[in-house]
Amino acid sequence: EDIPVICVDGPTASGKGTLASQLAARLGYELLDSGALYRVTAHAALQAGLTLEAGDEAAIAELARALPVSFDGDRVLLSGQDVTDAIRSETGGMNASKVSVLPAVRAALVELQHGFRRLPGLVADGRDMGTVIFPEAPLKVFLNASAEQRAVRRHKQLISKGVSARLEDLLADLKERDLRDTTRKSAPLLPAQDALPLDNSELGIEESVQLVLSWWEGRR
Ligand code: C5P
Repeated sequence: EDIPVICVDGPTASGKGTLASQLAARLGYELLDSGALYRVTAHAALQAGLTLEAGDEAAIAELARALPVSFDGDRVLLSGQDVTDAIRSETGGMNASKVSVLPAVRAALVELQHGFRRLPGLVADGRDMGTVIFPEAPLKVFLNASAEQRAVRRHKQLISKGVSARLEDLLADLKERDLRDTTRKSAPLLPAQDALPLDNSELGIEESVQLVLSWWEGRR
């Protein structure tokens, strides 16, 4: 329990993933990409012929409880198979958001997430890291940027990968996911009371990293 945790929570495409992995690399800490666990769970459920609806909640939770997921650098493996490209797609994100509203699925993933807390420390990226999974973490960052900014970033990312996408569609998808993530009953996306807000609309990655590192220096 003395193992330090830095939580980085925030909405879709707020730059959490990049910030969290940079922090983990600089500090030599473990990294938990909790969104990947929801993405893999949705992927495994669909592969098993389940729907991502409440009717299959118990079955999806059972899958999640013994999820054969592993990480190899930035690749995500399900039963040893590389599913990174499938789960990182827009559809993969939408599917993750569907299973993530199911309370039994969230509960089933708690222990797996706690297992990432290993020495010398952990950077945890998600929606409820500071509120539910690691409420006693000494540093909680709540990232944000306007939906328009986030849509523009996502658009650039996709274009650079050679994927065509319309900005209006991305913005609409983002808003739909924001709405589902913030209004769900189980662990809605909200800043922890003791979270430090970080609006990175006008900040580059390096500036955000330096800012959080300076907060961390002041806290440990
Ligand atoms: O962060 P990422 O975009 O990979 O997360 C995909 C989806 O998983 C989110 O839209 C959210 O619905 C869900 N999620 C969650 N709790 C987390 C991480 C992700 O509900 N801690």
